[in-house]
Amino acid sequence: MFSAMDPKPEIELFDDATALADAAARAIVEVAEAAVKARRRFTVALAGGNTPRTTYERLAASPLREQMPWDRTWIFFGDERAVPPDHPDSNYRMANTALLSKVPVPPAQVARIRGEAEDSEVAAADYTRVIAEAFGSRRGELPSFDLILLGMGVDGHTASLFPGSPVLKEVFRPVAAVHAAAAAIPERLTFTFPLINAAARVMFLVAGSEKAKVVKAVMTDSGSSLPASMVRPTNGRLTWLLDRPAAALLGPGKRR
Ligand code: 6PG
Repeated sequence: MFSAMDPKPEIELFDDATALADAAARAIVEVAEAAVKARRRFTVALAGGNTPRTTYERLAASPLREQMPWDRTWIFFGDERAVPPDHPDSNYRMANTALLSKVPVPPAQVARIRGEAEDSEVAAADYTRVIAEAFGSRRGELPSFDLILLGMGVDGHTASLFPGSPVLKEVFRPVAAVHAAAAAIPERLTFTFPLINAAARVMFLVAGSEKAKVVKAVMTDSGSSLPASMVRPTNGRLTWLLDRPAAALLGPGKRR
């Protein structure tokens, strides 16, 4: 749901998931270069799921690999499943395989969520502290990521913010442990809306015809209470990168 008060999200359409990934990877490099120029560093939160994998692979390959300011890049995760980092469902594992293990980002600048922690509440509090330390933010102060990447599930969830979850109403904690009964791995950790909406830039990467219905609901239904609709950066830019199948129900629009 986008009310008349909100700046409109930008929508970019691509022929297919590969074109989307190419553009997303290029956009990440652009945001990184601008952030490093302005503030001498780039802070990014990666998305999980499958869609961003090709984007990460593009970033890990020439020519973008050489263009990215890796030594000035700090990498975080917007959500994680409660599994160890070598588990097939670990978001860290996916990002590490596709990207992190292949690029010269200093390991000390990669902060993963401890999905393997016995107590997810403790892991969420720990990650909040890790973020605060990296940003030098004080207690109660929300850091502003240069870029948060997000995906969206067919039910409209984003990060691990699922429909109907009490965490959608969170106003204080930047990172929370959640139980998402509908998900294959129900125990998860996630950025909350206050942290997501404090970002300078948020980019959704959404591909595939199975997402068409929910994309339409988020973009056009003013009564939508879907979690993805609640992403509205307070002072930042919101961009949706969609492939043609995901945008199929939106009507005619610009295509790349
Ligand atoms: C996760 C995610 C989640 C994901 C969507 C879309 O950990 O599951 O971060 O929010 O982005 O479910 O996933 P796909 O890209 O696999 O469709």
